[in-house]
Amino acid sequence: MSLDLLKGICGSALSAISGFSARSPPSSLREVVKRGAGGDLTKRIDKVAEDAAVSYLESAGFRGSLLSEELGVKRFGGEEYPLVVLDPVDGTTNATRGIALYSISAAIALGPRLSDVESAVVMEIPSGRAFWAERGSGAFLDGVPIRVNDGVDVPKSLAGLDFNVRGNREKVYEVLPVLLSVKHIRNLGSAALGLCYTASGALDFYLDNRLLLRVTDIAASVLILREAGAKVLDLEGNDLDCALELAERVELIAGCEKVCREVLSLIRRNARPKTWKKFSP
Ligand code: IPD
Ligand code: CA
Repeated sequence: MSLDLLKGICGSALSAISGFSARSPPSSLREVVKRGAGGDLTKRIDKVAEDAAVSYLESAGFRGSLLSEELGVKRFGGEEYPLVVLDPVDGTTNATRGIALYSISAAIALGPRLSDVESAVVMEIPSGRAFWAERGSGAFLDGVPIRVNDGVDVPKSLAGLDFNVRGNREKVYEVLPVLLSVKHIRNLGSAALGLCYTASGALDFYLDNRLLLRVTDIAASVLILREAGAKVLDLEGNDLDCALELAERVELIAGCEKVCREVLSLIRRNARPKTWKKFSP
């Protein structure tokens, strides 16, 4: 039932974006329409997708709350739970630059924390492929069960990382040992998709140490990862959990437990070698 609701939300947002993109010049997709509740600028494409999701929830007679990246919290019928956690477009920069890799991310939680998420859908755009999971029932890509890559060695790995550090040099220094240890690296521009690709074994692990991700970016993917057998840890090595609020910022490592522990030992937080200073301008 809740999966159907999430698939309906994603499908309606996808149709709205597709119709809008097809008839609009690229510049109008990235036109800024307001500052979103999460603090980032809301582009026209984000608003079109979010409006479609809200209309869908209204037409489906949903009773509960919505936490969405652009509008913040909206009640439907005065109920607090279930809570739909939505990123109407994850990867807006890709979407507005004509890079065909972005997503819609939607989860349902029955309580106030990430660990209360019960079902999740991440829809890849423009393909329309859907990753989904329900707690205790496994994870799927278009109906086919998916599983994280077990027993991965870091030197042989294809890693997903986010270097979008917005000028924070320390965050680059921190992951340099990881960059120098892996076989291949991808910086995709949609965290929700990078995490789902880790759940399906397309990527071997996903690391984001920037402390910039919001729960709207990751709530759905984290359940999909866990149902696919992955660990999702904070960078202190604990199972990731946080409040389902836009003010929360998270950093994480996701993959099989072995690879997560190896990556954490490479990061060795606050152990920046003196030799790196010579690279600083
Ligand atoms: C962004 C994407 C991107 C990550 C940013 C996120 P948005 O989401 O997930 O990969 O680097 O930190 O904000 O803004 O397109 O929803
Ligand atoms: Ca977004």
